[in-house]
Amino acid sequence: MTVRQFKVWRGDAAGGQLNDYKVEVNEGEVVLDVIHRLQATQEPDLACRWNCKAGKCGSCSMEINGMPRLGCMTRMSTFEEDETITVTPLRTFPVIRDLVTDVSFNYQKAQEMPAFAPPADVAPGEYRMQQIDVERSQEFRKCIECFLCQNTCHVVRDHDENKPAFSGPRLFIRAAELDMHPLDARHDRKEIAQQSQGLGYCNITKCCTEVCPEHIKITDNAIIPMKERVVDRRYDPLVVFGRKILRR
Ligand code: SF4
Ligand code: F3S
Ligand code: FES
Repeated sequence: MTVRQFKVWRGDAAGGQLNDYKVEVNEGEVVLDVIHRLQATQEPDLACRWNCKAGKCGSCSMEINGMPRLGCMTRMSTFEEDETITVTPLRTFPVIRDLVTDVSFNYQKAQEMPAFAPPADVAPGEYRMQQIDVERSQEFRKCIECFLCQNTCHVVRDHDENKPAFSGPRLFIRAAELDMHPLDARHDRKEIAQQSQGLGYCNITKCCTEVCPEHIKITDNAIIPMKERVVDRRYDPLVVFGRKILRR
């Protein structure tokens, strides 16, 4: 057992500050263990969201020494013995209290997105997909909705004014997943991504990919293919010809 120095942000929507703490740390522990010990021994009303402690529920997202991370997957052994560890709430979303933020932005954006829409003449149970089509989008289904990618993206991180027009990387992988789905036949996901989700705001900095705890290649496998499909679509001679005919 060692005693380590922590700074933890405490406050609410009206404001707050970093408080200093000395907390016991045992071998093999993660940052979330230390937050729990802090609650048990010094700060019983410290607010922190968590559920699984196994990197699967996506609840314990926080910023640790300025990096967006899952508290339950960040081992204390990754820090130097004499390092002060600073824990703050996600910066992109409004604080409710202490380490808990209001992430409803992400649910609103998900709601704005048209749901999976198979052809009207195919009944549930009649859906058939080839394995290759399943595999193409399977990576995206690993998303645990921790919203670390959403929190990191510079388009909205310090720019609340961009939020109405930008759905963010988590929703771009959903758009790509549906666009690659052979049975999602009733929506033009490329057009929606470009016109309503703000795909054009993304300048492929890849910060979202760097913080994804599920190691989803958000930029390379979802965003860039979607951008390429939008461009193909716009400059496809047949599509351009079709648009001209329709305008007559
Ligand atoms: Fe979290 Fe990755 Fe899903 Fe983004 S894509 S919400 S970082 S799991
Ligand atoms: Fe943002 Fe990821 Fe694009 S961080 S700018 S959505 S590559
Ligand atoms: Fe579930 Fe950390 S507590 S991901």
